Amino acid sequence: MSDLCEEILKHISENGAVDTPALAKALGQDHQKIVGAVLSIQANGDLVNAEPRSEKLLELSDEGKSVAENGSHEAKIFEAIPADGIPQPDLMKIPNAKVGFSKAMALGWIVVDKSGGKPIVKRKIEAITDLVQQHLKSIQAGNLSEITDNLKQEYKKRKLIQEVVMKSFLLSKGANFALTLPKLETDLTADMLASGAWKSLTFKEYNLGAMGVPLESGYLHPLLKVRSEFRQIFLEMGFSEMPTNNYVESSFWNFDTLFQPQQHPARDAHDTFFLSDPVNSNKFPEDYLERVKKVHSEGGYGSLGYRYDWKLEEAQKNLLRTHTTAVSARMLYKVAQQPEFKPTKLFSIDRVFRNETLDATHLAEFHQVEGVIADYDLTLGDLIGVFTEFFNKLGITQLEFKPAYNPYTEPSMEIFCFHKGLNRWIEIGNSGMFRPEMLLPMGLPKDVKVLAWGLSLERPTMIKYGYNNIRDLVGPKVDLRMVQNTPICRLDK
Ligand code: PHE
Repeated sequence: MSDLCEEILKHISENGAVDTPALAKALGQDHQKIVGAVLSIQANGDLVNAEPRSEKLLELSDEGKSVAENGSHEAKIFEAIPADGIPQPDLMKIPNAKVGFSKAMALGWIVVDKSGGKPIVKRKIEAITDLVQQHLKSIQAGNLSEITDNLKQEYKKRKLIQEVVMKSFLLSKGANFALTLPKLETDLTADMLASGAWKSLTFKEYNLGAMGVPLESGYLHPLLKVRSEFRQIFLEMGFSEMPTNNYVESSFWNFDTLFQPQQHPARDAHDTFFLSDPVNSNKFPEDYLERVKKVHSEGGYGSLGYRYDWKLEEAQKNLLRTHTTAVSARMLYKVAQQPEFKPTKLFSIDRVFRNETLDATHLAEFHQVEGVIADYDLTLGDLIGVFTEFFNKLGITQLEFKPAYNPYTEPSMEIFCFHKGLNRWIEIGNSGMFRPEMLLPMGLPKDVKVLAWGLSLERPTMIKYGYNNIRDLVGPKVDLRMVQNTPICRLDK
């Protein structure tokens, strides 16, 4: 580029003022490149004056170019006529015959002889001059002396030429003309100030049109981006969000209310983080606690229960909630306390904690996406229907279900989807219908059934953004630039 700049300066110095199209021709360069070089010369100070101009040019259309090369449509018609003429239908088979025929007739080049019955087209004169072709060749060469305004109008109408506006510059020597680009200072340094050198140096002008430095602002983590997409889907489907702002939960709400027996392995300290301070919760709805105790130890509502010695001390233990189903239990209990039952759809997306061995796909804290629907006489068919719609909105259309076990749901289903990228079925969630042993002690009417499902937020996020290791997404090894650079999330709807 700077070579081209200096070539331009040399040309102006030797030949004086010149416009950029002429310069492009003289230097054998593309006009756009010359204009670019002129702009960078100007960025270096007042070396050249560039006076902008715009010029209307005539340009051949594609059809015009082919006429310039091969002859006009009327000439083609003339040439296609043999000495003793040609039946008109045969003549009309050649390309562009219609225009060519009418022009050749108007020019008096040809006649139609109908004396024999069928129309025969014959030449009327010996030879023709193809002026249209000649004119277009001149226009192509930039030679417009013979081209009258009438001709321009006609060729424009025939779409053989078009007018284009060409922006160019007239270049001449500027106040600080030189043959080479000066070296401009870009920074004012402390040394320049101290030595006084700044007085004689030339500084580069500010480029106020330059792109700014990207702002150092906050960025949403990919998990948050995917979370807001999930939230949007739930809201579209008429769900309300549950308050999940309590990471600390009692064993009562996390396990007991969910009919999860006290000796269940998930309650073990290997799976659950228990709190040392405060160790216990003390406030529970008393009647309800009694009913929960009874259904575990003695049964009821048609169930035999687990028949063990249910202990309050075990239910009191505080923990970091192991699933957001603890919040669903609190909410369903609240719904059951209303004077009249109203069908309810609830969701939550928040953090849960499990004492897991950490590896590429497991963390000790992660997010659960949870949905709950309570209404009269729901069936497993409703659950499958809701999933179909929910996952469709995520762009997942192939679903399969596998029977599973949860202490609090019956039936229970694991949800699998076909992942096109991985080309295999993967598990995405767990679901089921809450057991009567969970719902009836809360006080919900007998015919009210509750569907629920849960999935992790991390898994779809990893798939969406292509992470194989969860530690690239969450934790101390996360590259902050990753957070900055990940695009916004659009689940394929
Ligand atoms: N709580 C379950 C889990 O942690 C998910 C689930 C929610 C299952 C609701 C069934 C119903 O995996």
